[in-house]
Amino acid sequence: MRPESPRALAVGILLEVERGGRAQLLLDRALDRLPWPERDKAYATHLVYGALRRLRFLDFLLEPHLKRPHRLPPRVRWILRLGAWEWLWGKADHARVSPWVEEAKRVSPRLAGLVNAVLRRLHLREAPECVRLSLPDWLCLAWRDFFGQVAFAQGFNEPAPLFVTAYRPVEGLRPGPIPDSYLWEGGKTDFSALGLQPQNPASLFAAQLLDPAPGEKVLDLCGGAGLKAFYLAAKGAEVVSYDLNPKRQEAGERTARKLGLRVAYRTQDLTEPLSEKAKKVLLDAPCTGTGTFRSHPELRYRLVAEDPRRMAELQLRLLETAARATEEGGMLIYSVCTLTEEEGEGVAQAFLGRHPEFVPEPTACPFPVLRSGLGVYVAPEGGLDGFYYLRLRKVNFKT
Ligand SMILES: C[S@@+](CC[C@H](N)C(=O)[O-])C[C@H]1O[C@@H](n2cnc3c(N)ncnc32)[C@H](O)[C@@H]1O
Repeated sequence: MRPESPRALAVGILLEVERGGRAQLLLDRALDRLPWPERDKAYATHLVYGALRRLRFLDFLLEPHLKRPHRLPPRVRWILRLGAWEWLWGKADHARVSPWVEEAKRVSPRLAGLVNAVLRRLHLREAPECVRLSLPDWLCLAWRDFFGQVAFAQGFNEPAPLFVTAYRPVEGLRPGPIPDSYLWEGGKTDFSALGLQPQNPASLFAAQLLDPAPGEKVLDLCGGAGLKAFYLAAKGAEVVSYDLNPKRQEAGERTARKLGLRVAYRTQDLTEPLSEKAKKVLLDAPCTGTGTFRSHPELRYRLVAEDPRRMAELQLRLLETAARATEEGGMLIYSVCTLTEEEGEGVAQAFLGRHPEFVPEPTACPFPVLRSGLGVYVAPEGGLDGFYYLRLRKVNFKT
């Protein structure tokens, strides 16, 4: 059924997210089908992302006004959270309260009075930092311990600009923070037809670190649909992209064709050894994705405290494969779009402890850095995703 308004759409999507769906996917799919003006689409997006990015804080603000929030019908709960989000955003009462009361009347008329009363009584309360940032306590405390502060996580709660990577010269686009990255300020379009690909600059930089020469062979491990492979191929490298997931690779192959780029795709479980080697190897490993909370706002409520350690075990196994596939004298880049200690420095320390034939090389990072050690953690500022990069050189090591 077609939603009648951006508000109704937002409530419907948030209910699906609560049942396990992914906001970005649900929203993209719904908005693609609706003949709404861009303004309405942008409003629905603002509501969904805003409510999810600040969910813990919104519940905290609503708490004094609700006796048993868990007993409310889920739709009404989301109406209250969305109304609270608009209040926090600074929307005036007259424009904010009655549309949500009307929405409540449609779904649960007997609770419309409650919605009206609660939304008019909201007031700011002093909240603990982890609540204000809408982070789960386990992650917030781990970050505070490891980085000495957690204020950087506010960056995850700001709207996300759309960055694109350009594979050929472009004009008229605002440059992003690194070469070949630009800001896309228009609506959705057929990006590959323009020689562009939506990509966060922090993700692009992992590929730039490899710095391949034209014609040089590159192994793109855990390449997925191939965002990093496209860039490397556009720089003239001979790219072989490996991943476990053939569906992602098929999508990558289609995009590569549209972009006019050549990437060889091979499907393999990379916990098993590879049958080829190269001087340049990139492992963009699967991870908990805590650096992508801005575009995947629901993820923070789904992760559990054991996830980083569990992922680090897999990452180390993948790194073993990548290490064996790196030729002597060659370079191995390990990157993850997450900011946990376990999956960054933890993996680096464990790996280097077992592999004296690899030495870490400094990474001149063009972004704000949260912490550097063996590798570098990128701060999620200015629309950047949080990332960890480790650059390794395989040296001639004889025992
Ligand atoms: C961070 S994503 C890669 C994103 C990709 N490099 C890009 O830039 O578009 C991690 C990838 O690891 C793949 N993966 C997970 N476990 C794997 C395994 N055991 N062997 C090979 N690939 C694996 C997933 O299918 C996923 O595509």
